Amino acid sequence: MGGKIAPSLMCADFLHLEETLSALDRASVDYLHIDIMDGAFVPNFTLGPDFVQAVRQATRIPLDFHLMVDHPERHLHLFPVREGDIVSVHQESTPHLQRTLQQIKSLGASASVALNPATSVLSIEDVLDDIDMILVMTVNPGFAGQKLVPATLQKISRLRKYLEERDCGHIEIEVDGNVSMENAKKMRQAGADIFVAGTSSVFKPGADLVALTQALREAVA
Ligand code: DX5
Ligand code: ZN
Repeated sequence: MGGKIAPSLMCADFLHLEETLSALDRASVDYLHIDIMDGAFVPNFTLGPDFVQAVRQATRIPLDFHLMVDHPERHLHLFPVREGDIVSVHQESTPHLQRTLQQIKSLGASASVALNPATSVLSIEDVLDDIDMILVMTVNPGFAGQKLVPATLQKISRLRKYLEERDCGHIEIEVDGNVSMENAKKMRQAGADIFVAGTSSVFKPGADLVALTQALREAVA
């Protein structure tokens, strides 16, 4: 199966959200990536529960929640998570990672751990049984439009190998940050499965969102 595409709604034009959602539906994207930032875990604020609720009502595309918040276990109940969605929480954001992953599973969603560029792959050794996906941050979280941290490419291949060696080949790898057409190809080769599409690939002012999404899909086929 080819790579999956998860366009990042924080990069969309909020004044034309309805058109964007219908274009993404026509482009048959796999998920809508939803960045939640709390101004504490990362130095920025983005989307919140009301925004997500509105999106949920407007589309049937599954949601891919990326919680960049301290103590995500305290805030999970604010979001309309359901079966078929993915929820990523950062390894660095809570001392109660395993409990938080269980909480996500109990909502019927796929549970995932996000790793900042400086966080080791080895740090998730003890929760491999609790996760369906790992989100590898390929930039430091907080802002769109940043440049790839080069060492993260090698981290993706190291993680893929690490998972195979532990009979965890079913765990998917998602990449987020500067996933340009060119970087996406390298990330695919390194073993990534799901690609967060932001300003580097599909959200270009004036460009055709459906055509760019199709081009990205081909790049990671
Ligand atoms: C943060 C965000 C950003 C962004 C990705 O978690 O997910 O990484 O939307 O888009 P780029 O890096 O292409 O602007
Ligand atoms: Zn994200």
